[in-house]
Amino acid sequence: MTFSRLYRLIREIIGGEANEFCRYFFKKEPAEIRFCEDEAEKADVAVRLCERIKDGEPMQYIFGSAYFYGLEIMCKENVLIPRSDTETVVMTALKALPYGAVFADICCGTGCIAAAILRNRPDLTAVCADVNPDAVDLTKKNLAKYGLSKRAEVVLFDVFSDWSVLPDFDCVVSNPPYIKAADMAKLPDNVRREPYNALYGGEDGLDFYKRIIKAAKSRLADKTHIIFEIGYDEAEDLYVLAKEAKLGYELIKDLSDNDRAVVLKGSFYE
Ligand SMILES: C[S@@+](CC[C@H](N)C(=O)[O-])C[C@H]1O[C@@H](n2cnc3c(N)ncnc32)[C@H](O)[C@@H]1O
Repeated sequence: MTFSRLYRLIREIIGGEANEFCRYFFKKEPAEIRFCEDEAEKADVAVRLCERIKDGEPMQYIFGSAYFYGLEIMCKENVLIPRSDTETVVMTALKALPYGAVFADICCGTGCIAAAILRNRPDLTAVCADVNPDAVDLTKKNLAKYGLSKRAEVVLFDVFSDWSVLPDFDCVVSNPPYIKAADMAKLPDNVRREPYNALYGGEDGLDFYKRIIKAAKSRLADKTHIIFEIGYDEAEDLYVLAKEAKLGYELIKDLSDNDRAVVLKGSFYE
């Protein structure tokens, strides 16, 4: 089979995900593969994998990795797949974090946020925390892959437990679970294959934001400095939470012009 035929077949099965599939499967851009007819020998395997993707299995779980902020982050089932939306949080943190700070990546998942920030800001160190032992394990592996282990402490930690057990930190960067109850039922099939507790943020989606703001304030007082990823429809809610906590509020949009991140800061930064 020629590559052009194989590419058409891949598109027929998985539509718009074809280019991304080629990137994972052939480890090349589709334009490059076009001139390597021998790649088409892998047609049977490619078609079998596309059928699994069509049935709702996330591509990143099949291939064991996801591209994120120029890194190839290891992924596995039971840990949330890094999203390109979350790159907005990384960009925001790279600009907003004070020189030399220790940031806590609360709800770290694969460790994608901490890895991307640490790699681009050599002055920073991190505390990474997640309640899921698989996430803690994967964060350690991803940090090790990029030679960042010495600049981060990774801990198994429940946000709703006692924060005094966490090592010292100056700032929080977090993409917590934030999907509200009513929206959980509407998730597409492939997202439903990801862990429920990485997505569900309580009845109104705000449980984690409320908890993290309260705990960070009691640790950092007027030096509270938090960067959150938010859902596209949560900016107003976060504004209210920031005002209640007497924190400054800055809203950041993503490349699609959706509300995507907020920076909340205590009076120390005024
Ligand atoms: C939306 S995912 C974000 C993962 C990663 N930061 C990212 O951006 O890809 C939320 C993470 O919160 C973790 N989590 C859920 N409940 C938690 C809790 N009570 N305490 C700490 N982490 C929790 C999940 O295991 C999951 O890894």
